[in-house]
Amino acid sequence: MTYEEAKTALAAIGEEQLLSRFDTLSCDGQKALLRQIEETDFSCLPLFAARGRAAGRGAIAPIPAMQLPEIEAHAEEFREQGLSSLRSGACAAVLLAGGMGTRLGCSGPKGVVDIGLTHPVYIFQRLFESIAENAQAAGRPFHFFIMTSEKNDEETRGFLRKHRFFGYPEEYVHFFRQEMAPAVGEDGHVLLEAPGRIATSPNGNGGWFVSLLKAGFDRILQDEQISWLNVFSVDNVLQKICDPVFLGAVISSGCASGSKVIRKANRDERVGVMCLEDGKPSVIEYYEMSEELLDAKDAQGDPAYNFGVILNYLFRIPDLRKIADSSLPVHFAHKAVPCIDGEGKPIRPEEPNGWKLEYFILDMVKQLPGCLPFEVVREKEFAPIKAKEGADSIDTARALLVKNGYRL
Ligand code: UD1
Repeated sequence: MTYEEAKTALAAIGEEQLLSRFDTLSCDGQKALLRQIEETDFSCLPLFAARGRAAGRGAIAPIPAMQLPEIEAHAEEFREQGLSSLRSGACAAVLLAGGMGTRLGCSGPKGVVDIGLTHPVYIFQRLFESIAENAQAAGRPFHFFIMTSEKNDEETRGFLRKHRFFGYPEEYVHFFRQEMAPAVGEDGHVLLEAPGRIATSPNGNGGWFVSLLKAGFDRILQDEQISWLNVFSVDNVLQKICDPVFLGAVISSGCASGSKVIRKANRDERVGVMCLEDGKPSVIEYYEMSEELLDAKDAQGDPAYNFGVILNYLFRIPDLRKIADSSLPVHFAHKAVPCIDGEGKPIRPEEPNGWKLEYFILDMVKQLPGCLPFEVVREKEFAPIKAKEGADSIDTARALLVKNGYRL
């Protein structure tokens, strides 16, 4: 992108000020800024401007899930159907590993964290072990796409290469980078982090399919006739990847997607919750739950919104393609964003001074024709590592791994 092109593109969105210090930059600095302007996803800015007027959520109602007794009764049938699909290579895995691990206090990729006690056990290792287990059951490896972000791409690739992908065939592992979204100040304008650098952060986990296509991997999806993607988070060290029973159940249901759910541990557990929104399956994130929804009860007196998503989804690819061009809602997080002032002096705020913009994968559910909420036993499939201590920490995950017979 040339200076003139950048100026025109920024003028169109009212953000020319990002070039205000261009003349003070070295030649390399100028090139880097132009490259960053070209690569940053500015499409969410108009949505920030309209956020006050954004429509609220639709009419929310409880959703029935496929529960454990029904799954147990049909487990063999689902497993056979899932395995037959896996054997033909119709399902691939997508790991969302572009997040920043801020809550865990790690600056690098979360997956490199060692949770072993007597020998190293890395978070990434657990994920590779899980996919390898089902690959073995199916008698063939599955394509495994790993989404990173600008902040952790190099370290993630380097770490996994060093560990030889924990024995998984390298030719089946593909990396792609998610896009970065600009951070905006209280006035709604994009912030500069330094004279030659826009303040950006990963654009959330909702842009994964668009980023996968942009990276050119549609070729693999088409050539290999892959029709399902199992998408999951980096932090759950007990999850099953390319689980044949889940795949079989979703295929049998005729739904375009499936979501593994658990019964919430308590009213305020920080998990998204499945529901019907305007009659369609949807997910509400924990901080969007009103007191009324949190306290709602069903006819048996149990919580009406009790199926939490563990962030392990199956998506049917032809349906994903149809929604790839439609926009997802943008979520705005009020954060302390390091930036420079009008004179170019650095500001390192302790309090929120701006907004980070993110797309969420859970918003894709509502756009697809159908989603099967599929209940799993939380002690067997949900050991997320989110925080340094307390709930959902390395300690709680270790305890669950040991309970499931894993040696640490
Ligand atoms: C997430 C889910 C929540 C679910 C919970 C289960 C979303 C928005 N929230 O919450 O509904 O109940 O997991 O544990 O999906 N990521 C990226 N790029 C980004 C941001 C995140 O790849 O820009 C990845 C992270 O690396 C991680 C996953 O997305 O693998 C979840 O992100 P995180 O921000 O940790 O979401 P939670 O708040 O834990």
